[in-house]
Amino acid sequence: MAKRALITGITGQDGSFLTELLLDKGYEVYGVIRRSSSFNTDRIDHLYQDPHEPDTRLRLVYGDLNDSSSLNTILRQIKPDEIYNLGAQSHVRVSFDVPEYTGEVTGLGCVRLLEALREVGIQPKFYQASSSELYGKVLEVPQTENTPFYPRSPYGCAKAYAYYITVNYRESYDLFACNGILFNHESERRGETFVSRKITRAATRIKLGLQNKLYLGNLDAQRDWGYAKDYVEAMWMMMQAEEPDDYVIATGEAHSVREFLDESFSLVDLDWKEYVEEDPRYYRPAEVDLLLGDASKAKRVLGWERKVSFKNLVRIMIDHDLKLAQQELAMQEVATSALASKARWGAS
Ligand code: NAP
Ligand code: GDD
Repeated sequence: MAKRALITGITGQDGSFLTELLLDKGYEVYGVIRRSSSFNTDRIDHLYQDPHEPDTRLRLVYGDLNDSSSLNTILRQIKPDEIYNLGAQSHVRVSFDVPEYTGEVTGLGCVRLLEALREVGIQPKFYQASSSELYGKVLEVPQTENTPFYPRSPYGCAKAYAYYITVNYRESYDLFACNGILFNHESERRGETFVSRKITRAATRIKLGLQNKLYLGNLDAQRDWGYAKDYVEAMWMMMQAEEPDDYVIATGEAHSVREFLDESFSLVDLDWKEYVEEDPRYYRPAEVDLLLGDASKAKRVLGWERKVSFKNLVRIMIDHDLKLAQQELAMQEVATSALASKARWGAS
């Protein structure tokens, strides 16, 4: 019988790649989605809306990490073999604006799900999407599974709660529960307000004359950036290991926002210094200056290694966003010519 996976955060960047991976491996995938006033399933539409070959192994259910009763009902009905808890208010800057809400979803959401498991009386494997933001003002470089945490944002603090409660349920209830401490990972599906995608969207739109300027915050911050597809593979590998454990997933290379700009704009033959302005609105009350991970445990125990380099990551994103910008331009041209012909007919 096919294994059943339940994913919270299925509509996000990682949720969409993980769904593809699990369907490829023969799983039935259930995704928790939130009711929203506009469509929020763009990243997974291609998986379940193909009229020629609809994939009935993917099913979406309404629920919310802030709503215990929905989580109980979902678990009772689905009884998954594996749960991937990827749902979160995941934007660090925004977490300073909505700290309490971030604590509810990103922190307490995890224990709601864990408690629902106990109430329903099932013992699925459990993956918690932990984050390199736990290291915050880093106490050691590079960061490993043993580096102490020093979170620097409401988001980081919420993730710290979720990390520890996952460890606690593993130790208290003999649950197969893992924390994947993932460093930044990006892709062509990355949300457009994260710095990597903000840059690749802007570089390609500026190239085609659709945008003039790019406003950014701290250009000196350094991150260990990998490709999201490689990282969802690590999630699955952790869940297939003999013992549940916590793993750092990272590339072992740090690059600054400035270097991300260099790489992106050079791929479209532009000099970013002519277009980028620093805007204090994007500064954070407390910044995380440097994140650099050491994933040797994941390599040793799981055999995990990243496949996509920093340069290739930026290229994948630029290639994708250039096509997007070309489509945007073509649509603008169609709209302009429709307006022009309307004006001509109107004048005659
Ligand atoms: P993302 O694109 O922001 O996706 C977040 C997902 O969480 C979306 O599907 C969102 O649904 C869902 N969500 C938000 N609030 C929810 C709620 N109250 N109940 C249920 N679902 C809710 O994030 P991502 O980049 O894919 O990251 C996945 C997870 O890994 C997150 O937990 C993130 O914090 C963590 N993480 C990410 C990185 C990274 O670099 N990407 C690194 C370390 C850890 P809507 O679409 O409806 O908003
Ligand atoms: N978002 C954003 N927008 N960041 C900017 C900007 C800007 O205009 N200008 C500079 N930055 C800097 C931020 O200050 C930060 O130091 C760095 O770019 C990366 O910011 P984000 O891309 O927003 O990512 P993040 O590192 O804060 O958080 C992401 O990675 C975490 C893992 O370390 C998110 O995906 C988190 O959910 C994840 O846990």
